[in-house]
Amino acid sequence: MSDGTPAAGAPAAEPLPMVVPAPDLPARVRIHEVGPRDGLQNEQTAVPTEVKAEFIRRLADAGLTTIEATSFVHPKWVPQLADAEELFPQVAGLPVDLPVLVPNERGLERALSLGASRIAVFASATESFAKANLNRTVDEALAMFEPVVARAKDSGAHVRGYLSMCFGDPWEGAVPVHQVVRVCRALLDMGCDELSLGDTIGVATPGHVLELLSALNERRVPTAALGVHFHDTYGQALANTLAALQHGVTTVDASAGGLGGCPYAKSATGNLATEDLVWMLRGLGIDTGVDLGRLTATSEWMAARLGRPSPSRTLRALSHKEQ
Ligand code: HMG
Ligand code: MG
Repeated sequence: MSDGTPAAGAPAAEPLPMVVPAPDLPARVRIHEVGPRDGLQNEQTAVPTEVKAEFIRRLADAGLTTIEATSFVHPKWVPQLADAEELFPQVAGLPVDLPVLVPNERGLERALSLGASRIAVFASATESFAKANLNRTVDEALAMFEPVVARAKDSGAHVRGYLSMCFGDPWEGAVPVHQVVRVCRALLDMGCDELSLGDTIGVATPGHVLELLSALNERRVPTAALGVHFHDTYGQALANTLAALQHGVTTVDASAGGLGGCPYAKSATGNLATEDLVWMLRGLGIDTGVDLGRLTATSEWMAARLGRPSPSRTLRALSHKEQ
């Protein structure tokens, strides 16, 4: 009878972290997958629409339940996502939430006409990025979003409000916490259901994350309404995520294979890789519903389509194991 020890020469089991829960962490985390949008918006090579649709289908099959599909922005500003009209109907029937970015009423019109039921507006905590990304001041951008959020809510859509440059800005340097809190409050006051705190250029560190979350709570922004969106430029994304989880955050943005960046913020690199996040959460005993094997297979498949290796450490480690 087997005692559970693999026989000599038997293939090793799929590597997984040992589960050792840590105190005061949530039992479940919702991963908001941004690879098809934040990841692919930054690719130099044009990714065919069918490949994007297959990427989204595979992510859904791996257990991700919120997959940001594309953006209804001006096609000249983000040509990589100019096929939103062709792509969205190809994936709309999947049994997952498919948020899309819309900057203005024109974008909302395009998204709603295709049946989108989750939209995201995207504000900036700094003037420089508001200008670079939206051709508006911070307050002009908020004024642009107001009718978008109102109409989206009227049509029954769920609205996410992104806020970029919450920790640092490539033109302005460190961003004062009160500046971030003001724009968060404005987004919630106009009716956003949730906010995503963007570390667009990846400069945040855990103490800074905790300081911002506490400052938001003091201004009556509940932790339950907050998600975190870390880019991994300085290798801090997982440490920042753990700090946010310790504060009670349960929505974490990540990008399969660590794809990503922002075409309007040169120092933005890839997002926190979904594989790295799932590895850590699994080890902590936190449920995500994601199948790590299927997810890594999907990211490897996508890396082959893009013709370059993924920056995800977990993906690389698991790929080496298979060789
Ligand atoms: P603008 O040039 O000021 O546009 O750009 P406008 O309002 O003056 O309109 C000019 C023309 O564009 C008009 O056409 C509009 O109809 C058309 P014309 O009358 O001249 O023929 N137009 C549109 N066409 C299609 N779809 C639309 C649309 N809007 C206007 N939605 C605008 C202003 C907001 C449009 C532009 O700046 C834009 O599209 N920006 C998007 C930039 C973007 O997508 N950046 C990446 C996403 S943000 C991000 O990645 C950060 C995040 O991940 C979080 C983090 O990491 O921090 C979310
Ligand atoms: Mg981003």
